[in-house]
Amino acid sequence: MKTLQSRLTNATFRGLIQVPGDKSISHRAAILASIAQGTSTISGFLECEDCLATIAVLQKLGITIEHPEYGVFVIHGRGGFFSEPSGTLDCKNSGTTMRLLAGLLAAQPFTTTLVGDDSLSKRPMRRVMEPMSAMGASFQATGMKGTAPLIIQGGRLHPIDYKLPMSSAQVKSAIILASLFTSGTTTIIEPTTCRDHTERMLTSFQGSCSCLLDQEERRIISVTGPQKLRACSFQVPGDISSAAFWMVAAAARRGSHVCFDNVGLNPTRTGIIDVLKRMGADISIQPHPTAQAEPLGTITITGTTLQGTIIQGKEIANVIDELPILAVAGVLAHGTTIIKDAQELRVKETDRISAMVNNLRAMGAAVTEQDDGLEIQGGASLSGTTLPSYGDHRIAMACAIAGLFACGETMIENTSCIKTSYPYFEEMLSSFTS
Ligand code: S3P
Repeated sequence: MKTLQSRLTNATFRGLIQVPGDKSISHRAAILASIAQGTSTISGFLECEDCLATIAVLQKLGITIEHPEYGVFVIHGRGGFFSEPSGTLDCKNSGTTMRLLAGLLAAQPFTTTLVGDDSLSKRPMRRVMEPMSAMGASFQATGMKGTAPLIIQGGRLHPIDYKLPMSSAQVKSAIILASLFTSGTTTIIEPTTCRDHTERMLTSFQGSCSCLLDQEERRIISVTGPQKLRACSFQVPGDISSAAFWMVAAAARRGSHVCFDNVGLNPTRTGIIDVLKRMGADISIQPHPTAQAEPLGTITITGTTLQGTIIQGKEIANVIDELPILAVAGVLAHGTTIIKDAQELRVKETDRISAMVNNLRAMGAAVTEQDDGLEIQGGASLSGTTLPSYGDHRIAMACAIAGLFACGETMIENTSCIKTSYPYFEEMLSSFTS
């Protein structure tokens, strides 16, 4: 079992940090390139286990993919045609792979079986099966509770008007992907805005969708199909969710000064900047000019003493993947931090509410578990100890950052999961502790 060691450092965090490519955008770029007509080059692609699972599944579906150098994939799209695969399609630990491909495969005229690892096989899939079934695909979840393995009998679909029961970019994207193959207009109503990478990326591949706000400020996304996408060259920006770990470390240590270059600044993902600013962090943003649909730029953070805050309501979807590390920010801040309306955390790679409560308490933090979040009394002194990762990359990395502020040594067990999203995290961490 791989373990990761983190230990107290009193040094300030300084310098320029290059974060790896955005995970959500890498998945989508590979998928849209496979549907497009012609050869696309995706650069800055995140070579983590999750995104490589998407690449491997697309190859099994008959897409030729070259890998000329690290971070670059050349994808020979077949204009929306895929081959019936032999055997199952392994999505490993990646919910994004399984849910987005469920949308794509719902529209293909053959049967496929999507499987995943133990964690993915426990995650809810009805949320994606319901809209796909309403569009006319036939789904069978052969796991215990409407969970993977998923057997998908795809075919000709019809458009639907669908109100998402929860804020999920994966479900929204599955419906958008299916709609690209469906005659007519499919409409999706989002309860709260969540990441809109699929919508934006369609324009890069010469596809389209329309996004409007209704009177209740809900986003209405309409996709008229069928659509023919065209190949393009796409540059994936750095992942703000990976920058988040070092952003919190730098924000919480007075005297630190860290820059993150070429980070994605899509407003559906930058909630962490607003939260840290509310906590008193000194953050400046330098947008970079870009012709692409995803805004990006440089984030500069100067460390200070953080204050507690409340994270709730519509902000939750924007910071959903950053909540474990924001819980650490709460522990390092003065005063109370409350995270609520975050029930979705319970159905991530692990139950992230109870995992963070257990681990932060084991380090000496004052944390209370709520059904929909955590209440943290900041300022307690932390002690290093041995902690489980729960097989969840974001829990492992958030606890490793907490370890930088804890007396003694923190050992995190079972950390091979970190490779699912951040291949060089460990090297970065040791550059701060050695
Ligand atoms: C993602 C959407 C979010 C997020 C996940 C990546 C995506 O999940 O937590 O890490 O790429 O669409 P949900 O769609 O379940 O909210």
